[in-house]
Amino acid sequence: MCCFVLQVQRCLQSTQPVPAARLPYRVKLSAGKRYAWCACGHSKKQPFCDGTHKAKAPSISPLLFTADKNKTVMLCACKQTKNSPYCDGSHLKSEKIKQEAQVRKT
Ligand code: FES
Repeated sequence: MCCFVLQVQRCLQSTQPVPAARLPYRVKLSAGKRYAWCACGHSKKQPFCDGTHKAKAPSISPLLFTADKNKTVMLCACKQTKNSPYCDGSHLKSEKIKQEAQVRKT
């Protein structure tokens, strides 16, 4: 592969997470099951990782976690939470999220 193609690929890769959605995902977790929460925002299987980060955001890895009991939780979709993988309300404060929501409406 030539240098130009590699440079273009690097430009298309993100180093910061992108919002997958403006609002969090309500998800039922099963006790003892392992999950991989998408931290990059590129997965097509939100809120979970589908491996897309390897091509689109190789510097970002999914967050692996195990549910301690059966429960329904709100998992972050804007990818700005400080309490990964759970929603901490960051989507309500982030200008970046508001701007991207505006772009998607148009
Ligand atoms: S696809 Fe986003 S972390 Fe894997």
